[in-house]
Amino acid sequence: MRFLGRTCLIVLSLLPAVSTQRDGSSVVGSDQPLIASPGEDVTLPCHITPSLSAVNMDIRWFRENINILVHLYEDQKDQTDVQDSDYQGRTDLSKLGLLGGILSLTLRNLRPSDSGVYSCYATDGVWDGQGKTELIVRALGTQPSISMDSTQGEQTWLVCRSEGWSPEPEVIWRDRDGNNVTSLSNTTVLRVSQGLLSVSSYIKIKQQSNVFSCLVRSKTPKPDWESKLHISSEYHMFVD
Ligand SMILES: *[C@@H]1O[C@H](CO)[C@@H](O)[C@H](O)[C@H]1NC(C)=O
Ligand SMILES: *[C@@H]1O[C@H](CO)[C@@H](O)[C@H](O)[C@H]1NC(C)=O
Repeated sequence: MRFLGRTCLIVLSLLPAVSTQRDGSSVVGSDQPLIASPGEDVTLPCHITPSLSAVNMDIRWFRENINILVHLYEDQKDQTDVQDSDYQGRTDLSKLGLLGGILSLTLRNLRPSDSGVYSCYATDGVWDGQGKTELIVRALGTQPSISMDSTQGEQTWLVCRSEGWSPEPEVIWRDRDGNNVTSLSNTTVLRVSQGLLSVSSYIKIKQQSNVFSCLVRSKTPKPDWESKLHISSEYHMFVD
């Protein structure tokens, strides 16, 4: 085994001598997600390092997991007829950048549905490399409103509503003592126009308590929205 291992090592160390420098190059995206708002333009970073000209390479940008072709550059031009229709007319690959190994893709007029992991793949037929970049198209929704919803039989429910979110926000319920009572609630998410999300969260009232707050917030860092409902004691509201 030891001899076999050594033999392999010698073969490997000879490879660079008969090959070009590109074997040492790799394709790099971004390890930080990009956060942008709907309607904005963004440039998804990707480059070859150490730098190589990519002018004569094939370059493919695609969505990971769902395998959508976002942009294809082949035979020294953009092949716009084969890209996914959702991306037609919204992508740009700088030809000047390709000279320096920059594969970054500009994506215009962002939609919430553009959120996801994007891969950039480059090949010259022998060498290839792939990098990835995550894009989060974030919309902060409306301030939540709480109302009473007693329509479900004898039970009294509070409902907290907020709309216009992307991606799905987190909903946190607290009672007057500040205890997290989220586990007693039921949250439904509805996808409405342009991929934006509406949330409705229901909580059942049982034990006496007079203040509830509902916090709806983005899971990616930025401001929170909070709404409180004060229930007057004559209602004898309860939460369990
Ligand atoms: C509140 O409780 C829910 C459900 O038990 C939990 O998922 C969530 O992380 C908690 N949030 C906070 C801020 O404590
Ligand atoms: C809560 O969720 C469960 C499971 O999806 C469902 O059966 C129930 O009807 C929901 N209740 C409310 C008030 O939405």
